[in-house]
Amino acid sequence: MSETLLRTAQLSVRYGGVVANSGIDLTVGAGEIVGLIGPNGAGKTTFVDAVTGFTAATGEVTLEETRLDRLGPHRRRRAGLARTWQAGELFGDLTVEQNLAVALQRTGVRSLFTDILGRSAPPRDTIEAALELVGVPGSGARRPGELTLGQQKLVGVARALVGGSRVVLLDEPAAGLDTHESVEFGQHLRRVAASGIGVLLIDHDMQLVLDICARLYVLDFGVVIASGEPAVIREDPTVIAAYLGTAQPAGETE
Ligand SMILES: Nc1ncnc2c1ncn2[C@@H]1O[C@H](COP(=O)(O)OP(=O)(O)OP(=O)(O)O)[C@@H](O)[C@H]1O
Ligand SMILES: [Mg+2]
Repeated sequence: MSETLLRTAQLSVRYGGVVANSGIDLTVGAGEIVGLIGPNGAGKTTFVDAVTGFTAATGEVTLEETRLDRLGPHRRRRAGLARTWQAGELFGDLTVEQNLAVALQRTGVRSLFTDILGRSAPPRDTIEAALELVGVPGSGARRPGELTLGQQKLVGVARALVGGSRVVLLDEPAAGLDTHESVEFGQHLRRVAASGIGVLLIDHDMQLVLDICARLYVLDFGVVIASGEPAVIREDPTVIAAYLGTAQPAGETE
């Protein structure tokens, strides 16, 4: 069992009459890729919003033994907890390097002072380290349009990693990739995790999720209805009924 980096306890979010997340207990360990799956509207993005401080929630969020749930999103980001946005594309008119720099931009009075002191630009090697980690080294001066879609998706992950994040929550980071590109993306993500980073992966691409996740959590109507290893989850009758359906992928009849 790897060292636990991220832990939520009884995390809950309510939007008016809708309980979007209900008492979610989840952990992500160092070097671990954990999947969060479930039908549309199950509450996956809401969970990422709640963990990273972008929506009001009750319950606990702990990163490496430090409680973050009272902090705003920027302080959580600086503590090492980062996210990507569902359908969050890169800024097409900025270079890759500028796209990553934006993610590190500070806000508030303190950043004003660092701006005045000229120390706000993130060091180039910080950015290059993140690009290297996701497998697109040396791409900092290029524009997203010059990269393949797969590489753009990896830069999206780098944008969350930059600045030394310990845990990244990726909201459908491989959306739009074909099967081959998605397999390649998964291999890069594995390398990211192998460096000791914790990854929470949300995706509807079951092949990707089943291939690269050590454990899965299944959400339905804001509730975790199952959790465990992929091989167990894919056979779980509750999960099949709520999300996976009964049809087995072609050629898989074990
Ligand atoms: N800002 C909001 N205000 C009100 N209701 C919201 C808000 N965000 C999400 N919801 C509701 O919360 C529930 C969970 O939505 P959420 O976007 O988290 O689902 P999801 O699992 O990410 O779905 P998808 O797979 O389609 O991305 C839905 O009923 C949704 O309509
Ligand atoms: Mg979502």
